[in-house]
Amino acid sequence: MKIMNKSKVGRNDPCPCGSGLKYKKCCLGKDDGQTEENRTAYARKYNVRLKDEKAVEGIRIAGRLVLETLDLVEAAIRPGLVTEVINTLVHEHTVKNGGIPAPLNYRGFPKSVCVSVNEVICHGIPGERELREGDILNVDITTIIDGYFADANKTFFVGSPGPGARKIVNVARECLRLGREKVRPGNTIGDIGFAIQQYAEGQGCSVVREFVGHGVGFEFHESPQVPHFGRKGEGLTLVPGMVFTIEPMINLGERYLRVLDDDWTAVTRDGSLSAQFEQTILVTDDGYESLTPYDL
Ligand code: MF3
Ligand code: CO
Ligand code: CO
Repeated sequence: MKIMNKSKVGRNDPCPCGSGLKYKKCCLGKDDGQTEENRTAYARKYNVRLKDEKAVEGIRIAGRLVLETLDLVEAAIRPGLVTEVINTLVHEHTVKNGGIPAPLNYRGFPKSVCVSVNEVICHGIPGERELREGDILNVDITTIIDGYFADANKTFFVGSPGPGARKIVNVARECLRLGREKVRPGNTIGDIGFAIQQYAEGQGCSVVREFVGHGVGFEFHESPQVPHFGRKGEGLTLVPGMVFTIEPMINLGERYLRVLDDDWTAVTRDGSLSAQFEQTILVTDDGYESLTPYDL
């Protein structure tokens, strides 16, 4: 197959919007890159709903509350804290600010936030577990405001981390940073996954395959799926107006997981530590904008 330089689309190349037209006959020069053909092609072919400026602003507003809530939780973290208290903090802060916590009752999920400690990869249910010095804790918050969804998470240290904790959190953070850097029109979903997988495995860590990033904004989970592994140039081409999460789950040991009897909590099979960072990312005309921006 011909290898194209994906970062620059030629006038006669197929339009990255997927319309089937040449770039010059389609999106070239259209300032927001969102032609009617473009929107329709993505919706019909891939079930991807591109976001216009109004929707983006709605998601941005929800994203601000997500970040504010993550900060509130971070300030409360200490050894001895019971994870149920994090649920209360998130629920009350969200509702008080006009939001709805999306996890609550989502496909039967019983709480308003996911809290995943140490070997828990994701979807941990807040409860009686007490945080201990040296734990790592992922807090994953999804908030709905005015019908718009934003989804982000961070992994925090409880007290001072040991070397394994420090390593897995740093690698997971760098994975999100490297994946995010690949987001621009003309690149593909596979470019994101490749960058993440290459770095994680190069560090001797592994990438969880069963859970992936996802379109977000109008609903909690939309098309497309965004795997954190893959090959350069494969998968859907990114176009302006796409909004999706990147949320690599990286294990210190093997990639395999098991789901506990509560049907939610996903843990590493080998009991090794797992860390994750997530942001909601908009594809812009020349790159990306995080709608849940924090430094990586
Ligand atoms: N916030 C998670 C994600 O990043 C999904 C949690 S689903 C829930 O996609 F039901 F567990 F909340
Ligand atoms: Co998500
Ligand atoms: Co999330």
